Amino acid sequence: MISLAWLPSVPTSRLAPPPRAHAHCHAPHPDPRPHGRYRNPTVRPAWYRRRQRSLTPAQRRAEAALWPSLGLSWAHARRIDVAAAFGRDARTVLELGCGTGEALAALAAARPAEVFVAVDWYRAGVAAALQRVDAAGLTNARLVRGDAATLLERALPVAPLFDEVLVFFPDPWRGSEERRILRQAVVRQLRARMRPGGLLRIGTDVEDYPSKARAVLTEDGGGWREIPCEEYEGPRGGHARPETYYAREAARKENTIHDLCFTIDSDDE
Ligand SMILES: C[S@@+](CC[C@H](N)C(=O)[O-])C[C@H]1O[C@@H](n2cnc3c(N)ncnc32)[C@H](O)[C@@H]1O
Repeated sequence: MISLAWLPSVPTSRLAPPPRAHAHCHAPHPDPRPHGRYRNPTVRPAWYRRRQRSLTPAQRRAEAALWPSLGLSWAHARRIDVAAAFGRDARTVLELGCGTGEALAALAAARPAEVFVAVDWYRAGVAAALQRVDAAGLTNARLVRGDAATLLERALPVAPLFDEVLVFFPDPWRGSEERRILRQAVVRQLRARMRPGGLLRIGTDVEDYPSKARAVLTEDGGGWREIPCEEYEGPRGGHARPETYYAREAARKENTIHDLCFTIDSDDE
């Protein structure tokens, strides 16, 4: 990713409000081609590339102003050093598919002793998340842009880094499994970066997502063990899933939200 550090800084008061949130997540999959067409998820289809370019000028200014302090850039020869990015070694949380950063901002504000790294490949979403984090004055959250699997594989060192990984309301990507966040490549990479005893937490209101997630984690065979989420939330407190737009939408549609928690017993590859 190209560093934007050279761009002139813009006062945050002149930045645009977050973009119309979540529109992209509700849009029907714009490409009706059948399952199996996109073999390489790092080669984006045309509709995706168009969407990536579709920042308003104000969003571009926001991105340019906030990325140098709140974004994490990486290159093949220079992977992200999470502890160095925050200037401290703390309990570390990774959010995959953070959207506009609603859960990220809520959790980072509620848990200031911890540090949060949030990933999304949707550029306008990341721009909105940058604005949210900045507006809340949070110093314990950073954004990374790109596909979850690619980032895990290429942007982060292979080392136990994360105590908690969050996947809230992931896109089901029906018929396009190679783009789903919880896919084999992601889970395998994740396992190598979890600290022992780390927690993977998933929240979804898509009916068949839990069974698919369980199947992927079982297939991975790397010591993932499902635990009741209450076990994790209860004694430590404050670790519940924050209520966000998608949770409210699920309630409005009378959909059941499934919370799944997995821990990992071993950090072996
Ligand atoms: C339905 S939204 C949920 C956003 C957020 N987690 C929330 O609960 O508000 C799903 C998000 O996951 C992102 N996403 C989907 N697949 C991804 C992938 N492979 N890598 C990174 N982000 C992804 C989408 O861009 C989108 O912002």
